[in-house]
Amino acid sequence: MRKFWVMGAVLTAVLSLGACGDEGSDGDGDVANNGVDNNDTGNNDTDNNDPGNNDTNNDTDNNAPNNDGPCPGVECGPGTFLDEGACQCELDPEADLEATEEDFECLQLWDRIRRFRITNKLGRMEETLAVANNPDGGVYPVGTIIQLVPQEAMVKRREGFSPETGDWEFFFLTPSSDGTEIVSRGTTDVVNSFGGNCFECHAKAEPQWDLICEQDHGCDPIPIGEGIINNLQDNDPRCP
Ligand code: HEC
Repeated sequence: MRKFWVMGAVLTAVLSLGACGDEGSDGDGDVANNGVDNNDTGNNDTDNNDPGNNDTNNDTDNNAPNNDGPCPGVECGPGTFLDEGACQCELDPEADLEATEEDFECLQLWDRIRRFRITNKLGRMEETLAVANNPDGGVYPVGTIIQLVPQEAMVKRREGFSPETGDWEFFFLTPSSDGTEIVSRGTTDVVNSFGGNCFECHAKAEPQWDLICEQDHGCDPIPIGEGIINNLQDNDPRCP
């Protein structure tokens, strides 16, 4: 956990150093001048030169270990951190998915299970598919996104986010060729384009299905058949 954040901090530091470097002497001059204001003006020239050189050296030093790293070639995605001892990515138990518009994409890129599309944005795909394929149901892991149609999504948040909705966050979306606009998001109060409340319908699923309705989990059926669902997925405007 701590290592994950340390790596993040180092990366951020390198990135911001990189940005300073791009701006050239302006960035260095600002830093040096701030220091000089507190000190002698007479040393101004020397101060300006020294920090400039140090910055360049720091850039090189910081970049080298990051590229080679303690575990060359091992890159850990969101929701995971690098265990430097074992050189493998471990699941971050505190990970959460506060979805942004970029998290919603062409549904055809995601796995299809029965009628719906499913992915996991926090490195828990194996567990996600295991729950989806378990005939006895189960609780989806944090980071799961499930969609039946491009306009509606359920996102699994961290444990405790919303016990009432099984930690699901509901989304009403407007997808277009430019991407996805989040029209509304929430737990118990999100409605779809027909004015139907997501949670009220999905709460009728029997407990072992974690609020996922499908056709036989206890929810009232919706008046769109598989043909329309396939059509909406096939014509997702975000797909290339
Ligand atoms: C009228 C009841 C109703 C409302 C309102 C409703 N849903 Fe559903 N939803 C269903 C049913 C029933 C299914 C299963 C349909 C099927 O598989 O053919 C479903 C399917 C889904 C699925 C695919 C996984 C599953 O549960 O089968 C997602 C994701 C989903 N809905 C999200 C939403 C979101 C988000 C909203 C609100 C913006 C919403 N739904 C509103 C009844 C509803």
